[in-house]
Amino acid sequence: MATPQEILNDLKNIPYPGYSRDIVSFGIVRDIEVGSDAVKVHLAPGGANDEAVEEIRKQVDARIRALTGFDKVEIAIEAAPPPKHREPPRRTDIEGIKNIIAVASGKGGVGKSTVAVNLALALKASGKKVGLLDADVYGPSIPLMLGDNSDSGGSNEGDRIKPMLSHGIPAISLGLFINRGQPVIWRGPMITKLLTQFFREVEWGELDYLVLDLPPGTGDAQLTIAQQVPLAGGVIVTTPQDVALLDVQRGITMFQQVGAPVLGVVENMSYHLCPECGHRSEIFGHGGGAKMAGESEIPFLGEIPLARQIRETSDSGQPIVVSAPDSDHAKAFMALAQRVQTEVEKHGRMDLPLVH
Ligand SMILES: Nc1ncnc2c1ncn2[C@@H]1O[C@H](COP(=O)(O)OP(=O)(O)OP(=O)(O)O)[C@@H](O)[C@H]1O
Ligand SMILES: [Mg+2]
Repeated sequence: MATPQEILNDLKNIPYPGYSRDIVSFGIVRDIEVGSDAVKVHLAPGGANDEAVEEIRKQVDARIRALTGFDKVEIAIEAAPPPKHREPPRRTDIEGIKNIIAVASGKGGVGKSTVAVNLALALKASGKKVGLLDADVYGPSIPLMLGDNSDSGGSNEGDRIKPMLSHGIPAISLGLFINRGQPVIWRGPMITKLLTQFFREVEWGELDYLVLDLPPGTGDAQLTIAQQVPLAGGVIVTTPQDVALLDVQRGITMFQQVGAPVLGVVENMSYHLCPECGHRSEIFGHGGGAKMAGESEIPFLGEIPLARQIRETSDSGQPIVVSAPDSDHAKAFMALAQRVQTEVEKHGRMDLPLVH
């Protein structure tokens, strides 16, 4: 008789519809119960569409019948968790700030900060007033990426905090404060207090967009941060080598839980453009982000190439959008900014009056 582990191993032969990866590695198979003449499998296909769920169900059924010889194969499909609460779009309640956009990722190192910084600068280049808030209190990297202008900010003026001003955008980051030599262990309530100060006590001025760089991951820590203020929407960053539907799904769930629309998915390090000849090579096989966005029924916001220039310009505090605005790389970020604005407008935030 087959054991649950043997059945699980066998189910690894079933690819997730449209992907080369299998349903087990996507985490869809939750439980397998083997009886004397029957097998029950619990599947949690997340936000997969009905067609994909049916395809998975059929294949699981066929494989288990073939492996065990049992006629009774029961497949329980767990519905995607309903959003905890869906509220009508709320205005930002921070005076002077029209739209707050959070940039999130399921995993670290996918280029979330790079995307947040260049997205902010691209929005600025398209004529908007933009600020950047480094909500990654665990690994703040915005001061480095914007150029270390920490002398221009982080100071208190009366009871307001002055943001650093870099490439024409105000930015705030814990990095501005810890660089000044005060090691602090950050605990949950302190982080909440710090972020409240970042949102409400910083002199942001009038902003069309405030871009948040969230810490990597979509767990409780990120949720707590995303809950601090009403968001106009969330942008999820992924990479083709690590296209994990479930990670994106978790990002979607996180934004739903705070009542924020998901503006869409960006695929970073998507393809490589040869700096010499302009040849485009798809090192990791790109396009997973678009496919995944389609399956999760959320917009695909675009692809950002993998390029040494993007890394070097970020590392030296001169992000590509400002240091080489005519490059193809910068244009990819400009296109991203355009789509983000379109999505925000679709969700009806732009025309709302500010709350004073
Ligand atoms: N499109 C790209 N092309 C080349 N290098 C990139 C690209 N995007 C990001 N990088 C590089 O990858 C590294 C990680 O990027 P980044 O710090 O933006 O990721 P992150 O998701 O914010 O990471 P963390 O989880 O640590 O916050 C950096 O060295 C960055 O310069
Ligand atoms: Mg980062």
